[in-house]
Amino acid sequence: MRSYVIADLPGDGIGPEVIAVARDVIDQAGRRHGFVVHWRPCPLGSEHYLRTGQVLPDDVLENLRKADAILLGAVGSPSVPPGVLERGLLLRLRAELDLYVNLRPSRLRPSLESQHSVMSRGAPGIDLVVVRENTEGLYAGAGGTVHRGTAFETATEESLNTRAGVERCVRYAAALAAGRSGRLTLVHKANVLVHAGDLWLRVAREVAAEQGVELDYAHVDAACLYLVDDPGRFDVIVTDNLFGDIITDLAAALTGGLGLAPSGNINPDRTGPSVFEPVHGSAPDIAGTGKANPAGAVLSSALMLSHLGEHAAAADLESAVDAVLGAGGAPTTRAWADALSAELAKRVAR
Ligand code: IPM
Ligand code: MN
Repeated sequence: MRSYVIADLPGDGIGPEVIAVARDVIDQAGRRHGFVVHWRPCPLGSEHYLRTGQVLPDDVLENLRKADAILLGAVGSPSVPPGVLERGLLLRLRAELDLYVNLRPSRLRPSLESQHSVMSRGAPGIDLVVVRENTEGLYAGAGGTVHRGTAFETATEESLNTRAGVERCVRYAAALAAGRSGRLTLVHKANVLVHAGDLWLRVAREVAAEQGVELDYAHVDAACLYLVDDPGRFDVIVTDNLFGDIITDLAAALTGGLGLAPSGNINPDRTGPSVFEPVHGSAPDIAGTGKANPAGAVLSSALMLSHLGEHAAAADLESAVDAVLGAGGAPTTRAWADALSAELAKRVAR
């Protein structure tokens, strides 16, 4: 029987609530499709930090490296200053494990089409993938503060864009586009950010020509407008780290909300595990209320299973979410879990 070691890092807020559901549906799908998951719980996050002062201890990181994949819930808490966990855990994992692609599919699922304002204006559906560069740009950590506390205090954040970093990300996106519609859109702000924009444009033109995909370009502000007004023009979008962060929240809002949005932080070279997490974050306002929607975590799990080669199980998770949404969704985390489990039980092993 195929087996996988998966580290689960539930983290903060609603993270543990949605990851518990994701683990159950993965185990259930595994029983039907002939694989077993050995879970390796990893209790990092705000509680661990407040108790020990540690964010991501080196020995824990070394253990995480040994997993086949990492399933992450959410990181961030009002009781910890902003940035400590985000930079120290999430961004450090992205850098240390070289997760240079952040893959964020956004699809207006069939069951939601009728409720959608874009659809009601007669626009075609939304079915796109954002390939967000995940290790560089404004997230690289370059910058600092000088003259702190004086009238001349100066804060800088520098956007790092390396030829190698841009190229490997664009290559991944172009290959993805080649297997879909053959269309790739670069989103940037090349009319203002002329240095980075020029590098991204040159690389995208070269790679698109080499891989035989059609390249389109949109400034990030216009891309937001098109996402709302004419989303059918997009199939695969490739963009830098911060633009990708922003437009994927918009794309999520347009396709049923953050509660449904999945993501994969991918190391395409497979020199280590990739990290899969729902986009929604820790949502401290609803943590503990039992209302968290586990669909984003379950769809992230589907991405993870696909990455591991378990395509049939991944398809089952996707279709189970669609079926539950088609029946009107579920009011609580528990009701979602039961409905997903009942749906999965209907599917036969292939
Ligand atoms: C996301 C989040 C993170 C990001 C934060 C929490 C560091 O917003 O995954 O989209 O900006 O990448
Ligand atoms: Mn974000």
